[in-house]
Amino acid sequence: MKKIILTGDRPTGKLHVGHYVGSLRRRVELQNSGKYDEIYIMIADAQALTDNADNPEKVRQNIIEVALDYMSCGLDPEKSTLFIQSQIPELCELTCYYMNLVTVSRLQRNPTVKTEIKMRNFETSIPVGFFTYPISQASDITAFKATTVPAGEDQMPMVEQTKEIVHKFNNVYGETLVDPDILLPTNQACMRLPGIDGKAKMSKSLGNCIYLSDAPDVIKKKIMSMYTDPEHVKVTDPGKIEGNTVFTYLDAFCKPEQFERYLPEYANLDELKAHYQRGGLGDVKVKKFLNCVLEEELSPIRAKRKELEKDIPYIYDVLKKGSIKAREKAAETLNDVKNAMKINYFDDMELIKAQSEKYKV
Ligand code: TRP
Repeated sequence: MKKIILTGDRPTGKLHVGHYVGSLRRRVELQNSGKYDEIYIMIADAQALTDNADNPEKVRQNIIEVALDYMSCGLDPEKSTLFIQSQIPELCELTCYYMNLVTVSRLQRNPTVKTEIKMRNFETSIPVGFFTYPISQASDITAFKATTVPAGEDQMPMVEQTKEIVHKFNNVYGETLVDPDILLPTNQACMRLPGIDGKAKMSKSLGNCIYLSDAPDVIKKKIMSMYTDPEHVKVTDPGKIEGNTVFTYLDAFCKPEQFERYLPEYANLDELKAHYQRGGLGDVKVKKFLNCVLEEELSPIRAKRKELEKDIPYIYDVLKKGSIKAREKAAETLNDVKNAMKINYFDDMELIKAQSEKYKV
């Protein structure tokens, strides 16, 4: 069986370092590993509209931002198909049929959707499109016959829902759809990178993000204001590592060889942590180190973005070509689905013959 990747992001803002360690960095590695037969990276504008119906301009503006972020991180249109969700109408058609296989109570149990409903104050009036987006996400994944969905922990309920739809569909209509698996980050820090305020997740509305496209001085300022251990007041005080954002970021970003480069008095992150816990290591020193580590990762991305920004029509062209290619694939799957569901009347010569026989006198 072919190994196929499908994943994507809602275009509601520029991508931040949480997106990067949570999935983006991995996607680029997987792309360059040569182990996958097909890779589809989707800008999920239709999904973004499920909770931004009154703000299409926001979605429209951010498509190019997400595409630039993708390509500056190393997603390569020669190796991966980059496309826009709304340009693939087959996805809506699939969603329509999958809806018959999912109950309202099943949708109500989706933990990610539950959290989002609370966050958006949708408790009393949930848009139907938003409520059913996990089904639409199942269409995204199955349309491309994806075997692998590299994504963060918050996407686990969506992949679970997809698997259920696949099993149900294949059971009722015969083996048609491919059962996908989520590919989660391997490291706990990457799984849930907190915002610079130490709050649960990076989010635009909380204003606690470090964006991939932030300038170096902006990043430095953000790092210097980062939440650490509030009880670590004097340098000599022993400090806590757990819940200390600076150390969580180091867990996500720091490479062993960077100690030799920036902090040769420590052999590795464990030694740095131990010193902090003992007392005698100040926040500023650790933050400066983090700044170097992050700069090393982000400066090539920033430089690539500057290059790509010079030719915006090219980026739109990449997305257009990608969308045409993606549509071909989705149309194949929709065809399989319609055949399995026996709604392929005009292609089914047996059907037409049998019906004629029935009415022969
Ligand atoms: N739900 C994802 C997000 O919030 C976007 C998305 C839509 C997606 N369809 C997908 C991710 C399919 C993985 C697979 O960013």
